[in-house]
Amino acid sequence: MCGIVGYIGHRDAFPILIKGLKRLEYRGYDSAGVALLNGSLEIYKKQGKVSALEESIEGSPLKTTVGMGHTRWATHGEPNDTNAHPHYSHSTDYAIIHNGIIENYGSLKKELGKKGYKFRSDTDTEVLITFIEDIINEYDCSLEEGVRIALSKVVGAYAIVVMSTKDETKLVAARKGSPLVIGVGQGEYFLASDATPIIEYTNEVVYLNDEEVAVLTREGLEIKDFEALSQTPYIHTLDLALESIEKSGYEHFMLKEIFEQPNSIADCMRGRLKAADGHLVLGGIRDYTNALINAEKIIFVACGTSWHSCLVAEYIIEELCRIPVEVEYASEFRYRNPIINEGDIVFAVSQSGETADTLAAMELAKSKGAILFGIVNVVGSSIARTSHEGAYLHAGPEIGVASTKAFTAQLVVLTMIALKMSHLRGTIAERRYHEMLVDLERIPDKVATVLKQAKKVEEIAYIFKEAHNFLYLGRGLNFPVALEGALKLKEISYIHAEGYPAAEMKHGPIALIDENMPVVVIATRDKSYDKIVSNIQEVKARKGKVIAVVTEGDALIPKMADYIIEVPDTKDAFMPMVSVIPLQLLSYYIAVMRGCNVDQPRNLAKSVTVE
Ligand code: F6R
Repeated sequence: MCGIVGYIGHRDAFPILIKGLKRLEYRGYDSAGVALLNGSLEIYKKQGKVSALEESIEGSPLKTTVGMGHTRWATHGEPNDTNAHPHYSHSTDYAIIHNGIIENYGSLKKELGKKGYKFRSDTDTEVLITFIEDIINEYDCSLEEGVRIALSKVVGAYAIVVMSTKDETKLVAARKGSPLVIGVGQGEYFLASDATPIIEYTNEVVYLNDEEVAVLTREGLEIKDFEALSQTPYIHTLDLALESIEKSGYEHFMLKEIFEQPNSIADCMRGRLKAADGHLVLGGIRDYTNALINAEKIIFVACGTSWHSCLVAEYIIEELCRIPVEVEYASEFRYRNPIINEGDIVFAVSQSGETADTLAAMELAKSKGAILFGIVNVVGSSIARTSHEGAYLHAGPEIGVASTKAFTAQLVVLTMIALKMSHLRGTIAERRYHEMLVDLERIPDKVATVLKQAKKVEEIAYIFKEAHNFLYLGRGLNFPVALEGALKLKEISYIHAEGYPAAEMKHGPIALIDENMPVVVIATRDKSYDKIVSNIQEVKARKGKVIAVVTEGDALIPKMADYIIEVPDTKDAFMPMVSVIPLQLLSYYIAVMRGCNVDQPRNLAKSVTVE
């Protein structure tokens, strides 16, 4: 939520900031703004996308080599020009950009109001910069000292960047709970919510830790914690290619990411799985092998699409490892009093690695003595760093707001972990284990085969593009796929869609079915095949329109369904990696045909760093 970018160095700051904001736009696109400092502190901001901001600037923006920018996903105050970031302090000598929420901003605002401060916007962010200004005036201290003291009195989650006319040689940044990456160049520094705006200039980065304040000048980088103790910056070298964050000829990032899946799945297996040698190694979980062998319970915490991949993992782990598994919405888990015992294993699954609810659930589990495994795509993210151990997805940057390749990569990593655990625990026969490794290795080719049917899926999308509702049905491992298909459709096309376990339909949703209701049934050949055939008949008896995802060569369902999409056969445990692909394509094409902004659907943001 919200993208932050900053620059100090020797280049023209404005184009760097605008380009960076465009790369971060997936994080929020309600409004955008930049602040530039050179003799004066100028703010340009506008409701809408970064392109609207560019168009709104008359003449040339202030020429300078220091500045910062922000793209917003609104929390406090409606998205309009006034509430857009950056925000000036009361005197306009200071400016701030902020990602996150200041929870005690109401009481701070009241106190500042009593001192005569006035506010222009409805945001918590403006309160924070005015609070910083008040502290600097009161303590007669430096900008960084003012930031540090103010943040020690603030409750909430944030990443901020602050600049001031009182000292034009620096940017001051701080974080608690929201990500901030510092790019280290030659006599120049970059700041951003993730590495994508930075990678074009340098691959050397420092991840700011929680409760740290960084001072960036052209001469160097200084980091202190909230106790004012100096910290040594650890420089990571990123392995991220520029092409991986560009559309590379595709119309949308989402389409590119759907089509990347044969490669992203192969990347996720690379170096970990070699079926011919019986090799399955996940370096990240090696140190906790005993914990996995002795586990009595496994808890998954996640949100959204990541939660769906955990549901698939639940089926697989229970089947292969015979360990009870609980799958929890992170946002619910943290507000109950969940039973977690010392040594219980908690998997936190997340594409971004920054989801606030998932992080909070992890903190709770950690405080109760659980062992935390992070299954994360974004390297160096907060969830990765909060985990004791874990495995990266290696799916490459996912920029489309709707998650696609991260989902299939999560399925692959979680399945590899389930296989490894079952082998270690001796709950899988040697022969079955090897057969499964062989079949898992073939998944990239099978996904490529499904993608060849994109045209057919597009034709089906055309037929149903005006539908008002969709029902998605699946059983067993295909039930989470039904949930995921429905989520994909609603989030990018704004068509109401529900995912249901097919047998539950008769307990309520069947009442919805008439000749106008498209019903997507994931009916691949597995142990519940006969049952799902009956469910299709129930839908057809009520004149529903059935779009069935079936196993190649199925002779029965094509006779009943209105439209079919075939997927290659594979072991039941791996079918979701394959059967989800047509559903991703279907939602993509329907959304495009309805004229929706597929990569940036309304009201959404890629990483949800607020509760
Ligand atoms: C749906 C989607 C969201 C995310 C959810 C969790 O397409 O992208 O539902 O899956 O916000 O995000 P991560 O995986 O980053 O924790």
